[in-house]
Amino acid sequence: MGPVRVPGSNGELACRIVPTPHISAPDDAFAETCLLPGDPLRAEWIARTFFDDAELVTSVRNVLGFTGTYEGKPVSVMGTGMGIPSVSIYASELIDTYGVKQLVRVGSCGSLQPHLGLMDVVVGMGACTDSGVNRARFEGWDFAAIADYALLRATVDTAQSLGKTVHVGNLMTSDLFYGPTNLSLDETMAPIKRMGVLAVEMETAGLYGLAIERGAAALAVCSVSDDLTTGGALSPDDRERSLSDMVAIVLDAVL
Ligand code: HPA
Repeated sequence: MGPVRVPGSNGELACRIVPTPHISAPDDAFAETCLLPGDPLRAEWIARTFFDDAELVTSVRNVLGFTGTYEGKPVSVMGTGMGIPSVSIYASELIDTYGVKQLVRVGSCGSLQPHLGLMDVVVGMGACTDSGVNRARFEGWDFAAIADYALLRATVDTAQSLGKTVHVGNLMTSDLFYGPTNLSLDETMAPIKRMGVLAVEMETAGLYGLAIERGAAALAVCSVSDDLTTGGALSPDDRERSLSDMVAIVLDAVL
């Protein structure tokens, strides 16, 4: 792929900007399918590595969004920042203002079950949470934050056809990266492990709740970057390699 084009650099894109509070892009700037890594520089890496004709479409607060094509099909990628509040802002604006219909988080997670290894891929069928956001959306009841079935099925089928193993199950979306100081990690994680939750991360339950509320389809696919039972963690190179494998599966599956 050549250099990424910047809006306004040729005078063409600058005149149809429809800014939201956090995205400044033309109203047709995003494809119907958008990948959502947490790190904006990962969004740039995905666009440069996988997309043809990638253009930078927004960079408010250095949260980068790109649109291009993959095997001739339009696709976008945008960073979300970390945690439910941040992903909720970007995902809501992408759906409500930019017409994004399929949102696929491509992130990392910490594994909680002994059968998961570093670099394994976890597909979030559902997401538990200690956050109150879905209760706020659901009149105080407990909403089952679940993935879009078609996206989930396509991703699992594609992984299988590529000979890649994925684990499908529950994620734990936590508001706390550093747990309460009065509890050990084992104590914090005990109920999550006991209920068979595969891995912990910080965005999916919020993404699933808001996507369902807005009529969009969402899925989270996360590679295991750290093992919370052994303390093992991926090197930066392995992080990039596992992201690459995961993005290849997702792009083949969801476009
Ligand atoms: N906690 C929360 N989110 C994460 C972790 C973790 O240990 N690892 C990768 N994302």
